[in-house]
Formats: sequence, structure tokens, C-alpha cells
Amino acid sequence: MKVVVLGSGGREHAICWRLAQSALVKEVVCVPGNGGTACEKKCRNVMASTAEEMVEVAIAEKCAFVVVGPEEPLVYGIADKLWAAGVPVIGPKRQGAQLEASKDVAKAFMEKYNVACAKSVTVTKAEEAHEYIEKFGVPIVIKADGLAAGKGVVVAKEIKDAHDAIDSFMKDGLLGDAGKKVVIEEYLRGVEISVLAAVSVSPTSAENGKATIVPFLPARDHKRLNDGAQGPNTGGMGAVSPLDDISEKTMAEFDERILKPTLKGMVTEKYDYRGFIFFGVMLTDDGPKLLEYNVRLGDPETQAVLPLMDFDFAAMCRSILEEDLDSFTFAWKDGYVCAPVAVSGGYPGNYEKGLEISVDDVAFSATGAKLFVAGGTLKNEKLVTSGGRVLSCAAFGKTFDEAHKASYDAMKAVSFDGMFYRKDIGLPGAAQSN
Ligand code: AMP
Ligand code: GLY
Repeated sequence: MKVVVLGSGGREHAICWRLAQSALVKEVVCVPGNGGTACEKKCRNVMASTAEEMVEVAIAEKCAFVVVGPEEPLVYGIADKLWAAGVPVIGPKRQGAQLEASKDVAKAFMEKYNVACAKSVTVTKAEEAHEYIEKFGVPIVIKADGLAAGKGVVVAKEIKDAHDAIDSFMKDGLLGDAGKKVVIEEYLRGVEISVLAAVSVSPTSAENGKATIVPFLPARDHKRLNDGAQGPNTGGMGAVSPLDDISEKTMAEFDERILKPTLKGMVTEKYDYRGFIFFGVMLTDDGPKLLEYNVRLGDPETQAVLPLMDFDFAAMCRSILEEDLDSFTFAWKDGYVCAPVAVSGGYPGNYEKGLEISVDDVAFSATGAKLFVAGGTLKNEKLVTSGGRVLSCAAFGKTFDEAHKASYDAMKAVSFDGMFYRKDIGLPGAAQSN
């Protein structure tokens, strides 16, 4: 079969690579893809910008299904459009995508279905928000309701920062409509983990008791720019999976308090959600609590989790769509993946683009790592930088130390002007914690 993947980042490169390894897949069409997918076996990049063009490509390619990488097209209803055109989609319809598009919708869902999470209130007037902040005090978390490309959450330790966040979101309109409504949330102390999962929920599967969410191995992103979780926030400086600091008890609590109530909510609300979900979880002294849902796979967690899969990714997608995920056999490689990310000099501020990326192929292959391109494109047949987060080197090891060493040996075989990466991905003290 032929499969279409929408998106252009490192996550999408990993998805294309994994799909291309399936004996079921003849070709992966990447829309628009990047310099990494352009060079991947069995993969071909095709340009399309609007939703209509994407649907046209999916139809013209006669693909078996489309996998949607990022949240934006899902929020704007690409899945609804594709299903309406007769094309099966891995990714929720608009209704389910609201779990990421609106923090208010997500919190209302969590509260209604008893998903363990921080207490919160939603406000639409700045004066009311200021009153709540005075009442609750700090630390406190201020979240813009809408999509804000990672700029919509302020963890305020000082009261002034909380009030300033309200003013910038609600009065100055820093985030446009996304900040008109704000969620004010209890501050949670703990360490963060990411759980990505496959979801197969539809009114039909709900009726015949086959609605399912299957979690993948837990992973961890590293959002701060510098070692030791210091410096500004980024789109993610590297990921590891699985995690040694998560006990079976914690995962059982995650299942009972977060996953199962989420599934119940999706079924009760009659979602048609066949795709992936990302649980951003804080491990607190009171057990795991949900910080956020994303309606897609995580980036860069995908680059660490997919190489650990010991099953056919395309077959799993088919099983999600055919609603027999409850009987699909998941198996995982016995080991670890460490996937540090290399970024452009100056990122997350301004940075140059178009810089040539060179790879010492002999040294790189010796590590067994896989290079995933995030912000890189082909120019005159050479790979050049085209974004802030440029690439990641994902390496497998029987032990975490082996995976860590191999991924950094691979990183040393790659270079571009201004290249920067954290050296401590997955090491103690590297995780985001409060
Ligand atoms: P979110 O987009 O909701 O995941 O928030 C972005 C980041 O803000 C998270 O990854 C956490 O590091 C932090 N954060 C969000 N909510 C809370 C909370 N209730 N308590 C403490 N930190 C939080
Ligand atoms: N790594 C966090 C995210 O994908 O949103």
C-alpha cells in the first residue's frame, strides 16, 4: 500500500522512516516532508500548502491512509475533510482535536471525567483573573486557552509575573484570540514525563466495546536550552525512552487515574478519534497528574520511541483504523534510545538558515544511530539548515549508557556552522522538574 504523511519536522521524518520499513508499505508520500524524508528509502516528497491541496494529493496518490503529524491541520479539521473524501486518517477529527486546541475544553473534559490533574478556573475577564491571582497567591500557572506555539504558558513564581501574564494575554493581546480566555491553574511540583499512545475510538468501536488506548513506552523531553534544565524554553532539545525512574506502580496509577478516564470520556462524548494522543504528565507526591493533552505524537519523543518498536508501525495504523487495536500485539525492544537534538546557533532567538550540514558517514554509521532531520532541506543536492531545531541523532543501546554514548558519538560526526546541542540528555538532573 501507499501511505501519505503530513508534516515537515523530525517527528514526521521518524514516522516516514518507520512506515517505510513495513513490508506492507510500497511507498510513503511525505507532504511536504523535508531534506531527511527526501533521502529516505521508499519515500517521496510532494508539495501541498492548503488543506484542499493535501486532500487532492491523498486522493491522487490513492493512498491507503494518511498520517497527520502536527496538531494544526487536525485542529482546523483536516481529518474531517479527508474522511469526507473517503480517505482514512490517523489523527482525530476536529472535535477530538479540541483537547489540544483549547486548554479550557481540555480542563473541562478532565474535570468531567475525573482525570487526575491540577485544580483550575477559566476566566474571560482580566479583572477576574487578577482577583483569582490575589486569592490563590504564587506559585501559580497561567495558560492561554488557544494554540500559542509554546508561548501560552507562564509558570509564575512572583505575583507580578502572574499579573503581567494576564495583562499581556488578555489586555495587550500578545497571542491574539488564543489569549482572550485564560486558565489559571494550581502549580504542581514534580518531574515530567510524556506518554504517547495509540487511540482507536469511534462511535462503532464504543458500541461493541472495542474502544482502546494503548500507551507506548514512557519518554522524556528536555525543553530547556542548556544542560541541567537551564536557560530558555525550546521546542525540545532531546528525548529518551524508556525511563528508569518510573515504577510499575506509577504506570498503573497513570492507567487508572489518567488513561482509563480519558478513554471513558472519549467514548461518552462519542468522539471519532483514531490516531495518537500525548499525555504530558507531572509525577507529583500525590501520584501522576495530567498537565496537557496533545492530539498527536510528541516531538522529539517520537524520535526516541519509534526506534524501540518491535512491531510493524503500518500494521498498527491499520489496526487503529479497522478498530481492532485491542487485539494488536505490541512488542518493544529490550533497551533504550537516546535522541539529542542539534539546533542552530542563536535558537530559540534569531538564527541563520541555509548552512550546509556535513556528516562523516563512516563515523556516523559506526554508531548505529539514525539521523532524523527536523529543520533541514535539500539545496543543490546538499542538506542545509532550514529551521531552529535542525536534526536529532537517535541511538539504541542495551543499556542507557550505551545509547547515550552512541547518540553523542553520532552527534560528533555531524557538523554545521553554529551547531549547538545539550550534552546531558537523559542524565540525572537533566529532566524538567519543579
Ligand atoms: P503545557 O503546555 O500545559 O504542558 O505547559 C507547558 C509546561 O509548563 C509544562 O511542560 C510544564 O513544565 C509547565 N506546567 C504546565 N502546567 C503546570 C502546572 N500546573 N504546574 C507546574 N508546571 C506546569
Ligand atoms: N515534546 C512536547 C510536544 O511534542 O509537545
